[in-house]
Amino acid sequence: MTAINEVTDLRIEGDVAIVTLNSPPVNALSANVRTGLLEGVTAAEANADARSIVLICEGRTFIAGADITEFGGKGPAGASLTDVQSAMQNASKPVIAAIHGTALGGGLEVALCAHFRVAVPSARCGLPEVNLGLLPGAGGTQRLPRIVGVETALEMMTSGRHVPATESLELGLIDELAEEGALLEGAIAFAHKVVEEGRPLRKVDESNEKVEAARGKPEIFEKFRAGIARKARGFLAPEYNVRCIEAAVNEPFAEGLKTEGRLFMELMTGEQSAAQRYSFFAEREVWKIPDVPRDTPKLPIESIGIVGAGTMGGGIAMNFANIGLPVILIERDQAALDKGLAVVRANYERSAKRGRLTADDVETRMGLLSGSTSIEDLASCDLVIEAVFENMAVKKEIFADFDRVLKPGAILATNTSALNIDEIASATKRPESVIGLHFFSPANVMRLVEVVRADHTSNEVIATSMALAKRIGKMAALVGVCRGFVGNRILAPRQMQANELLLEGAMPWDVDRVLFDFGFPMGPFAMSDLAGLDIGWSKETSKGETLRDVLCEMDRRGQKNGRGFYDYAADRSSSPSPEVEKVILDFAARSGKAPRKVSDEEILERCVFPMINEGFKILAEGKAIRASDIDVIWVNGYGWPVYRGGPMFYAEQVGLANVLEKLKQFEKDFGEAFAPAPLLEQAVAEGKSCRELGF
Ligand code: CAA
Repeated sequence: MTAINEVTDLRIEGDVAIVTLNSPPVNALSANVRTGLLEGVTAAEANADARSIVLICEGRTFIAGADITEFGGKGPAGASLTDVQSAMQNASKPVIAAIHGTALGGGLEVALCAHFRVAVPSARCGLPEVNLGLLPGAGGTQRLPRIVGVETALEMMTSGRHVPATESLELGLIDELAEEGALLEGAIAFAHKVVEEGRPLRKVDESNEKVEAARGKPEIFEKFRAGIARKARGFLAPEYNVRCIEAAVNEPFAEGLKTEGRLFMELMTGEQSAAQRYSFFAEREVWKIPDVPRDTPKLPIESIGIVGAGTMGGGIAMNFANIGLPVILIERDQAALDKGLAVVRANYERSAKRGRLTADDVETRMGLLSGSTSIEDLASCDLVIEAVFENMAVKKEIFADFDRVLKPGAILATNTSALNIDEIASATKRPESVIGLHFFSPANVMRLVEVVRADHTSNEVIATSMALAKRIGKMAALVGVCRGFVGNRILAPRQMQANELLLEGAMPWDVDRVLFDFGFPMGPFAMSDLAGLDIGWSKETSKGETLRDVLCEMDRRGQKNGRGFYDYAADRSSSPSPEVEKVILDFAARSGKAPRKVSDEEILERCVFPMINEGFKILAEGKAIRASDIDVIWVNGYGWPVYRGGPMFYAEQVGLANVLEKLKQFEKDFGEAFAPAPLLEQAVAEGKSCRELGF
């Protein structure tokens, strides 16, 4: 065996040259990997004993793509990816890529320059660059459609989907499956076969049939664009990926590569991709808790109890049943229990109707859910979650029961979104076992969980809760106890400003349009209509003091009765309500404000800058570990557009000094709600980013 460099070696087995790459964690194509690959393939080509070349990786995966940490850096060092690809494609002997784990992005683009590809059944192939706000910039956009056809390439590249090996085989992305666990043997056997049969060395670049089949049919692209329009709204990368495939169809290979290169650079140097790459790393860093080491022992969690079988409790239960964990739901009476379980069943059946589950899956999952009206039945649970309405006295009673009933070491969690968890924990003699697990509604769909650490929560309980959140496929962020925790606490000033703006002359549809155009799925007033204006409102106590009171008194309750801030047609399409406009103007007049024209820019800044300001307060108080955790929360739980990174990332893109200046101006004009956070002032004074300040 010859070491080529610190990450690559070459050995000759019989007449097969084996180039092995070993660059943990994911064999990303960093400078020394590219250099090692180029030199390895060149040496294999020159070796007189070798009649074929197998490229294989050590560790968990084949090459998972370009090294994202190199992006936006000083520019490429080491060999270029194109040199590596040319060396493989132009080799005089067959080059076989042997794939396990994932061949993604640049990794698949390297594999596409091998003459053949062999993979184990568990492997996956994909071009996920779109999720980083990019497109495959190493020929992938021109080569993929030449193998899988235009329609499949469009779907793969705009979704970033990781395609399983069996499907990859059907698509021609790989040529043969090797036995699981015996990839090298399979690849060597395949290499022998290719040599013995004298198979021609296939170069994807030269195979034009599939792209030619789509030439002169622009309708393929138009139809595809229309199909993804809703999902891709606001994003640049999906459209740029589509344009590259158009180029593959309409331009010769070499020209298509140039188009790809130009569009790639545009994305790479743009703000969207910077935000999406940041988000990629933020979503990995969020799991790391400085004072809870990675090797903290975790408690075994094999059975769950949930108190409250309402919308939240039922939704939470589904997450666990989905991964095969038994859940017992507790309600006060049988009728409530039956109703809760029926809602869960209806949810599963809806998924089955849409083809996302089989009828058997529905029964298996329902079979994991049981109900009881006695809290004593939770005795053997490893984790219990309280999900009843927000009332401190009731919650404390439940936690006192938990303390009495549950075995030592069980985790006692609350799903509260508002109450003080330290106070809830005080109802037990084991506050170290108490934690917040704040799911978002609908809990079976929303990806975010805020894991809330109380004063006495133990490291084991934190580590176990984070691991469990990962197990059920959630994105979790550790936060501290404060009003609204991190997500809702940041939402509050936005809601306040949205309402204030109405009194100054903006209409709900103005505010909603600005936030929708910014990239949120909907604005605050459309959201209120969806949730129901009458949540927490009661006719008996309503005094007509707030706009909401007045609207509810007029029986404008939201989407559910076809009238809220908007009027709703039978097909649920909405239109601005003249009646509401009048109510708002009357209301504003009563509060002594003369309506003025509020600009879109002001709407955006009034709504978003106080959120950023709150984020700085949260960091200073230690309620979030780092600024990027706040961003993970807002992207995953509140629909902040990922191409804008999150409120804290956005703040730095806008410039912290600009945010501060505007806040000061707003403070002068509109009062202390805008008083800048001292940490923001410090950041600007010192010219530092959140990260540079240690957040
Ligand atoms: N570059 C640099 N670091 C990477 C990386 C990459 N492409 N992919 C993963 N990593 C790092 C992660 O940040 C993480 O680091 P830490 O342990 O320090 O947090 C580590 O590798 C392990 O990653 P995961 O925690 O995500 O591990 P996983 O096993 O859950 O998933 C994976 C593995 C499926 C490969 C996943 O990491 C992934 O999807 N990676 C990105 C793949 C991708 O987008 N590739 C395209 C890159 S762009 C490109 O290739 C452009 C081009 O056309 C040339």
